[in-house]
Amino acid sequence: MTVAGLDSSRLRVKITGRSLPRCADEDLGFGTVITDHMLKVEWSVERGWNAPMIIPAGPVGLHPFAHVFHYAVECYEGMKAYVDANGDVRLFRPRMNMQRFRTSAKRLSLPDFDGEELLKCIETLVDIDKDWIPRKRGFSMYLRPVIFSTTPWLGLTQCAEAMILVLCCPVGPYFKSGFVPIKLSVDAKYIRAWPGGTGNVKAGGNYGPTVISQANATAAGASQSLFVYDKHEYVTEAGTMNVFFLIRNERGVKQLITPSLEDGTILPGVTRQSVIELSQQWGECETIERMIPFGDIKAAFERGDVLEIFGTGTAAVIQPISGIVYEGVEYKPITEFNDKALQVRLTNFLVSVQYGDIDHPWSHVVPK
Ligand code: COI
Repeated sequence: MTVAGLDSSRLRVKITGRSLPRCADEDLGFGTVITDHMLKVEWSVERGWNAPMIIPAGPVGLHPFAHVFHYAVECYEGMKAYVDANGDVRLFRPRMNMQRFRTSAKRLSLPDFDGEELLKCIETLVDIDKDWIPRKRGFSMYLRPVIFSTTPWLGLTQCAEAMILVLCCPVGPYFKSGFVPIKLSVDAKYIRAWPGGTGNVKAGGNYGPTVISQANATAAGASQSLFVYDKHEYVTEAGTMNVFFLIRNERGVKQLITPSLEDGTILPGVTRQSVIELSQQWGECETIERMIPFGDIKAAFERGDVLEIFGTGTAAVIQPISGIVYEGVEYKPITEFNDKALQVRLTNFLVSVQYGDIDHPWSHVVPK
């Protein structure tokens, strides 16, 4: 028997009429509205990948023993689709998502697939549901590829059956407050990721266990946690985002620093990578990826040398951070949050690329 690869030329499309109510762009929150269609591709160890299918979005029936329910054998991606002034649909660096999706799947012992072929299927899906893409600035259509083990037995074994779904969701800002600064608090109890774990892949299992930490953040008067680990309190991520600090070091040198990927605790974010590349190109400061003990940040705060803090992620894009609560004390960056701030200029640039205002190789036009 031949084991088939994921093949976009076998894509089957079943179109439905528009069945769900639409709401005005400005009423969209994050992740509550699903579009009319979804992509579904099933895999089995004997046959490989079935023909991909675009079908009406709705429930999928799974065996109650499916590994995903019991052992969290799952990982996902986050991407966004935008419409430019010419009506063309654009994705932002989608090949980076496909690459990371495959890396995550490998870490979870889920089946591999051809990222280019999956991207072609996603392009068709996005084209079919393009009327759902909000036109208002700051709004977009979030794409959620997810792969999980449907292997229908309770023994924890290699994956024998799996499924990819790609869901589409018109969204507004991830944080209800929009592009206004939020506060973080260092979570002294819960750890998001540690060396040898799965922090560097997009496993759903990295995210679910952080929800409990929200209560600690709220109790500290903050809206998200800053996760750290080990006795050095190495900074990892801020809520669901990568985190950046614009500081002056002890010698007065301006540096944009973010936790490095070296110990496997940090998600290699697409927005993170884009900010690093832009900062390097702009050359206004040194751009440094390194292990960051929280003590280094605290010392910089105490010198008055923390200029800006922000989070990055697909859902949030760039999220300004107004302060960090640590052991009951709130530390604040010194730069005013205005158009001159690095994070605002980075945001403006990224948004112009994403909405196709400027021609840029990171913006990928979806073929019609
Ligand atoms: C994203 O930013 O795309 C994420 O995956 C975070 C998620 C909690 C929305």
